[in-house]
Amino acid sequence: MRTQIIQINEQNINQELINQAGDIIKSGGLVAFPTETVYGLGGDALSPESSKKIYAAKGRPSDNPLIVHICRMEDLAHIVREIPEAAYKLAKAFWPGPLTMIFNKSELVPYETTGGLDTVAVRFPSHPVARAFIEASGGYVAAPSANISGRPSPTLAKYVTEDMNGRIDMILDGGDVEIGLESTIIDMTAEEPMILRPGYITREMLEDILSSVDEDSTIMNDDSKQAPKAPGMKYRHYAPKAELTIVDGKADSVVDYINGELCRLKQEGHKTGVIAANDTIARYKADICKNIGNRNDEKAIARELYRILREFDDEKTTVIYSEAFDASGVGQAVMNRLLKAAGHKIIYLK
Ligand code: TXA
Ligand code: MG
Repeated sequence: MRTQIIQINEQNINQELINQAGDIIKSGGLVAFPTETVYGLGGDALSPESSKKIYAAKGRPSDNPLIVHICRMEDLAHIVREIPEAAYKLAKAFWPGPLTMIFNKSELVPYETTGGLDTVAVRFPSHPVARAFIEASGGYVAAPSANISGRPSPTLAKYVTEDMNGRIDMILDGGDVEIGLESTIIDMTAEEPMILRPGYITREMLEDILSSVDEDSTIMNDDSKQAPKAPGMKYRHYAPKAELTIVDGKADSVVDYINGELCRLKQEGHKTGVIAANDTIARYKADICKNIGNRNDEKAIARELYRILREFDDEKTTVIYSEAFDASGVGQAVMNRLLKAAGHKIIYLK
């Protein structure tokens, strides 16, 4: 299959090109598109065949449900059985935007899209290209992140091309994404709304609207006896090809420990990498040191993380050490993804 790659300027959207992309979806094809979080791999959410194609293109297990993307609040009622009052409140506060809510699904949504579940995840993105594209596609676009299953989600169209060239019909290149980590997922069918995946919309922001929300206990812990409630969270996701270890502790101890390990690993013939904040980066002796930014700016760190993990792959790094970052606010999503990328390998120094 030849994959068409098309530039779209979000300030001046070419409707003709968007209509072409929409026509591909309506006729059962796949199109990757930018959102404010990461790039998505879109297909018709109401077509079982399209959803199967998405799983095949990603190499994703079919028990891992897809998120249905909409572009109008009024479309929600068609794909869900009921809309709880709390969901209206969250929608008012955070839609369009990086929040995904889970509802009981209506009959319109095929089980192929929901991985066999009776619930459906719905997101109303804010990115102008995403919204125009969803509208041109008929209003319901199923879209996982546009990476091969297990790789970091793409934050640039070139990474989508790397993973999806030849596997899908079209890539809409809208430049850099704004956030860099996937949306916050909250289950609205639980007794108390429950966060299944942390993201840019933080627990504090949700609690400002709903007063109290629950959180899946597997988000920050590797409790293998407990299955995460979002099926996708059980996979070793977001992972670079190199072995990644996180080291947490006082700055001096972390630098000394990592440098000691690097020295040993280099002698063993490894190509080594380090991920660190700008105040410590110069102190590391890895082959490749990546500055992830100011450690007090979690939003900037979120934007850089997946790009850095992919660059290490390109540079054929074989082992990576990362500093730990503050897990408050958006930092919780950063540490959740970093822990997954490391397969929960974290060393705590005194
Ligand atoms: O920001 C995002 O959400 C991006 C962009 C493209 O919108 N999409 C994204 O999709 O991250 P994906 O497929 O990579 O992740 C979807 C996650 C998976 O962990 C999946 O298991 C969970 O959502 N999920 C989807 N439907 C669910 C459901 N009905 N119940 C529980 N978890 C669900
Ligand atoms: Mg994904």
